[in-house]
Amino acid sequence: MAKIIPVPVFDGVVFGATGDLTLRKLLPALYYRFRDGQMPEGARVIGVARSALSSEAYREKTRQALEQHVAPDDLDEAVLTRFLAGVHYVPIDAAATGATWDGLSALLDPARIRVFYLATAPALYGPICRNLAAAGLVTPQSRVVLEKPIGRDLASARDINDRVGEVFTEAQTFRIDHFLGKETVQNLLALRFANTIFERLWTSDVIDHVQITVAETVGVEGRAGYYDTSGAMRDMVQNHLLQLLCLIAMEPPVSLNADRVRDEKLKVLRALRPIAPHQIAAMTVRGQYGAGAISGQPVESYAADLGTGEPSGTETFVALKAEVRTWRWANVPFYLRTGKRMPRKVSEIVVQFRPQPFSLFPATAGQQHPNRLVIRLQPEEGMRLDIMTKDPGPGGLRLSPTGLDIRFDTAFGLRFPDAYERLLMDTVRGDATLFMRRDEVEAAWAWADPILEAWAAAPEPPRPYAAGSWGPTASIALIERDGRTWNEDPG
Ligand code: BG6
Repeated sequence: MAKIIPVPVFDGVVFGATGDLTLRKLLPALYYRFRDGQMPEGARVIGVARSALSSEAYREKTRQALEQHVAPDDLDEAVLTRFLAGVHYVPIDAAATGATWDGLSALLDPARIRVFYLATAPALYGPICRNLAAAGLVTPQSRVVLEKPIGRDLASARDINDRVGEVFTEAQTFRIDHFLGKETVQNLLALRFANTIFERLWTSDVIDHVQITVAETVGVEGRAGYYDTSGAMRDMVQNHLLQLLCLIAMEPPVSLNADRVRDEKLKVLRALRPIAPHQIAAMTVRGQYGAGAISGQPVESYAADLGTGEPSGTETFVALKAEVRTWRWANVPFYLRTGKRMPRKVSEIVVQFRPQPFSLFPATAGQQHPNRLVIRLQPEEGMRLDIMTKDPGPGGLRLSPTGLDIRFDTAFGLRFPDAYERLLMDTVRGDATLFMRRDEVEAAWAWADPILEAWAAAPEPPRPYAAGSWGPTASIALIERDGRTWNEDPG
């Protein structure tokens, strides 16, 4: 196992300190990095929110969050006590004009790296940055971390980026897409560029199409307020799914330097064929879950989950066909789908190779399936290459697909760190490779905007699907019209 290299001592200021993301993801991630010796003794986590809490009360809240979100075996009382000693809280209405910053200012150490993590609504990013600058808290050693989605369309993203850019340089700005911190997503770079066999096959001559599925069983949980103004396109496709597409489709970068990797991803985003209004019906499907059952348990509809009693036009499912207009990917569609309340949580990429041009084998050998590489991002992280093999034994030559299968948990026997653990440490180190650059975010919106606009103008609402199904039947038709099918055994 690679040796853990501690990051320099730092002050991490988390805005939105009492919110779901901080309690469920950021604090547990920091705890693990502290426990494993990467976050040094003396580094501080300073929570900022509007609630009038004392540091003592926030430590108690942190303890409760860790008890809930860290595996019991990993929670060591002595480590927890030392970790909590570095946790502080300052009540500030950070986006308000005239807010008082003295408490935070007095706490921060001028010599340290500062990480300002904005786990708030994107509309607050600009005002918070402006206030940080006005309070004199932005040093050359400061970085700002922005959660996705940055804005809700290209215009609002540009506006946010401009406002943040008035205070922080691009090198100081870390736009997080936590999918990029997942081990298996980083492994895509290793798969493609640390092996020789795949890269030579990575072309339209050999690959028929690519499928990217990110399915979740959860509904909107406690995030209905945010989710209903966002929907699956803004919440998942514009960022996570397009980033996965980029890592599959990009050309080899000239180095692993952050900007060289991001240059290549940007080229892919710019090469996405815009979906014209007249193609929306054929190339996109949006859905919204109704009541149903998952693993035998009844679940309510999206409308009931919202609890407003009002119908909503927000999509909880998207399937679409994307095309990358480059020499390498001509005529290789990328089918993307994501949804809430699907039968199983699974994120996977399927690279489907073309059928062999000619078969030597008689019909009695059985159907010959084209090769397929399935990259499982979660759960059961790993990858499987399906190849045709002869069934063992006498009685004629029969062929079946067999998987060359690696499961990373059994191969490495390790706990898979949460994506936020890696990404938070990268912000302290100042390594932006796994973060989105401004131009990437804007290129992704430029492609997503016409789809969102066409949906908003369409008279018909999202198509209903039963919770616990794989989405509206139209999403099956979307791929079957092309003579292809979604991978039916995801995971
Ligand atoms: C977040 C979305 O970015 O990703 C959520 O806002 C979604 O709606 C989540 O549930 C999925 O992340 P993961 O790591 O659980 O696959």
